[in-house]
Amino acid sequence: MSTFQAPKGTYDLTPPRSATFLAVREAISAPLRDSGYGYIETPGFENVELFARGVGESTDIVTKEMYTLTTKGGDQLALRPEGTASVLRAALEANLHKAGNLPVKLWYSGSYYRYERPQAGRYRHFSQVGAEAIGTEDPVLDAELIILADQAYRSLGLRQFRILLNSLGDKECRPVYREALQTFLRDLDLDEETRRRIEINPLRVLDDKRADVQKQLTDAPKLRDYLCDACKAYHEEVRALITAAGVVFEDDEKLVRGLDYYTRTTFEFVHDGLGSQSAVGGGGRYDGLSEMIGGPELPSVGWALGVDRTVLALEAEGVELDLPATTSVYAVPLGEEARRVLFGVVTELRRAGIAADFAFGGRGLKGAMKSANRSGARYTLVAGERDLAEGVVQLKDMESGEQTAVPLTEAPAELAKRLG
Ligand code: HAM
Repeated sequence: MSTFQAPKGTYDLTPPRSATFLAVREAISAPLRDSGYGYIETPGFENVELFARGVGESTDIVTKEMYTLTTKGGDQLALRPEGTASVLRAALEANLHKAGNLPVKLWYSGSYYRYERPQAGRYRHFSQVGAEAIGTEDPVLDAELIILADQAYRSLGLRQFRILLNSLGDKECRPVYREALQTFLRDLDLDEETRRRIEINPLRVLDDKRADVQKQLTDAPKLRDYLCDACKAYHEEVRALITAAGVVFEDDEKLVRGLDYYTRTTFEFVHDGLGSQSAVGGGGRYDGLSEMIGGPELPSVGWALGVDRTVLALEAEGVELDLPATTSVYAVPLGEEARRVLFGVVTELRRAGIAADFAFGGRGLKGAMKSANRSGARYTLVAGERDLAEGVVQLKDMESGEQTAVPLTEAPAELAKRLG
């Protein structure tokens, strides 16, 4: 170990577990790539004001959890705590919405940072794969995204996840509900901080996990009863579309989410094997966000799935991903001359697209064969002085244990044939 350790709330991805992370990123993005979503990458930090305005001044993310810094030039920046505000900012900056092809469908994958209290499944550095569909108000788009996330999780073999669905209303009906809820909440017996929250973000009070608070909320006005006709019809259509696709979901009126930009459709993917940090992914519609960050009206919808928690969910369900071996051929040279010759063969194999590795450092046969086993290679190539004198190399099938002498010049072609 060195004098240093990974910072609190972070961890390193190292082989072999890191291969699962790559496979999860791949599995989540595959359905998006097949559905017209283009890849976008934005900087790891942004102007702090983007998140303050976008994610919301009253959210925990902005008030407590942002890593902020002032540059030598005096700019106020924040490490990105989430992807949506950045992606929308980038799409507007590149005028993607003006190319006459709405919605602009984008997917991304990257690191995010929140100064949270670390615990199992909750880190200060984590990784998401996300999707945003910008510029169109259409329940089919909301349904598409929910269905694609479901498809991604199923393709990984996950089964014990549930989809929670809600509608948060729009700029017409939500303010009416907000006021009714505030009036109700102001009469309750609540601590100072919660009282402040009533004035800033009353819907978040519904999310309070404490039993004594929840007990008082039983008769709170329900958003469902305040949804305007347009929001109700929209939500019914989303529900009907995902039902028709055979995707099972639960209506959850209490689902408010921790970011302020949501309107109408909101959803969360929760996994029952994860304890308190059970949300593996979440998203929803954010019809007002573009205007909040100075853009035109661009109703949009999206989600982000947490890669770390998805890996934990796989482990909780005992799902072993079928990861292809990274090395197909392992070369074991015995002696100086063999090193040069076999390294040449390995280079040739690699250029032909066959994954090959090599016993470096001039180790003996026993140690090198151990490495060959550990590499998961299907074949090993062993050559010593006597083999070279005969112009052959020993090709060993690691599954059957069978070994045959193959003319050195024919080894690459023979391996290509055997590996199909
Ligand atoms: P979010 O619900 O804040 O939404 O995060 C999405 C997912 O990121 C969570 O469900 C979780 O799996 C993962 N995640 C969040 N915080 C942590 C953490 N501290 N440690 C480990 N994993 C974490 C968003 O970020 C929105 N931008 C989603 C969205 C996209 N909405 C619309 N478009």
